[in-house]
Order: sequence, then structure tokens, then C-alpha cells
Amino acid sequence: MTAPAERRFAPATVTGQGFVLRPLSSTDVDDITDACQDGSTLQWLPLPHPYERRHAEDFVGKVATTARETGRGIVFAVEVDGRLHGCIDLKATDWVSGTTEIGYWVAPWGRGRGLAGRAARVLAEWALRVHGLERVVIRAATVNVASQRAAESAGFVREGVARNAGYVRAGRVDLVVYSLVSSDLHP
Ligand SMILES: CC(C)(COP(=O)(O)OP(=O)(O)OC[C@H]1O[C@@H](n2cnc3c(N)ncnc32)[C@H](O)[C@@H]1OP(=O)(O)O)[C@@H](O)C(=O)NCCC(=O)NCCS
Repeated sequence: MTAPAERRFAPATVTGQGFVLRPLSSTDVDDITDACQDGSTLQWLPLPHPYERRHAEDFVGKVATTARETGRGIVFAVEVDGRLHGCIDLKATDWVSGTTEIGYWVAPWGRGRGLAGRAARVLAEWALRVHGLERVVIRAATVNVASQRAAESAGFVREGVARNAGYVRAGRVDLVVYSLVSSDLHP
């Protein structure tokens, strides 16, 4: 059996209802810096603290670029009315097994409209339909109810709890595992 060719996500813009997923740009740095001052974002994501402008510059200029160039993932701005309202990405992509994982945060000025769930659905379908992946996962700390609700509203199926599987600011956590698989799109 020959090894599969090296694969990566092509830069893309993906349109959802009332939002667009588009590549990050240097004009997003101020909004990312502002958004990452938020208490619950700092609570649930392993971000530097204090989160400074240089961290956002690094995220846009290096982290996002490296994710795509290595094939491991792709980072999108979630744009509403011309402004970044959050970020969503594919990560830990394994092109051989056909699996990837979604991560997201929504800025305080974008919350309360189910944006993460809607963006996750659009991005998962893009991964499964356009890139031929087979399985998309979302993992959320057992105590992060908002993230679990977002996964459920995206139509992901709860599979169970992975013990001691992640970490947040407060320490190690169990993670609820959700998935959307290719056959879910063709029941
Ligand atoms: C998780 C997150 C992305 C959801 O943002 P959002 O799409 O704007 O979510 P909403 O505010 O519309 O809420 C989605 C659902 O969660 C519920 N919810 C929101 N905050 C909640 C809270 N603190 N406790 C319990 N439920 C909550 C809402 O009522 C809503 O429920 P519904 O689907 O039954 O209507 C956002 O809260 C966030 O960025 N959190 C910090 C970063 C994070 O946790 N990322 C995920 C890591 S796995």
C-alpha cells in the first residue's frame, strides 16, 4: 500500500447563515486581544494570562499559518457584519484515519445567538463533504455547559466522557466527547 500524499486544508471562505468563516488577518489583532480578556474564555482555554496584543499577533501570524502549512488544521475568523465575532478551527487532523477536531470561542460581543453551534455545523460539514474526512470531534470540559450546548445545537452526538483528558486554567478536567461522522449527513 502506498503512503497517502501529504494533505492540508486550502485557504477558504465558508459562508453560513448570517456569518462567514474566513482566514484571519492582521486587522483582527485588536478584536482578538479584546476578546481574550474575557473571563470565561480565559477560564476554558489554555491561553497566556495576561493575554497581550503580541499573543494575538503571534496567533494570527504564526499559530494559524503553521496549523495550515503542517496539515494539522485551519483557523477561521467567525465574521458577522464585517467584524470578527469569534474564532473556530480544525485541529489534530489525521488525514490517514480521516479525523479532525473543532475548537471555538465567541467574543463577548457575539454571544447569546448560538454562533458557535452554527459555525461548528458549517465547518464540520465543510470538513466532511469538501475534504472527505470521516469524523469530526468536539470535546468540552464536563463543567463547560455552554460549549456542550453549542456542540449539541450543531447536531453532534454525545459519545461519553474521556477521563482526565484535558486541562483548563484551574487544572486537569474530564472532557465530554461529541462527534459528527460522515454517515450522519446521509442517514
Ligand atoms: C462556548 C461558547 C463558544 C458558546 O458561545 P455562543 O455560541 O455565543 O453560545 P450562546 O451564548 O448562544 O449559548 C449556547 C447555549 O449555551 C447556553 N449557555 C450559555 N452560557 C451558559 C452558561 N454559563 N451556563 C449554562 N448554559 C449556558 C445558552 O443558554 C445556550 O443554550 P441553548 O442552546 O439551549 O439555547 C462561548 O461561551 C465561549 O466562547 N466560551 C469561552 C470559550 C470556550 O469555552 N470555548 C469552548 C472550549 S471547549
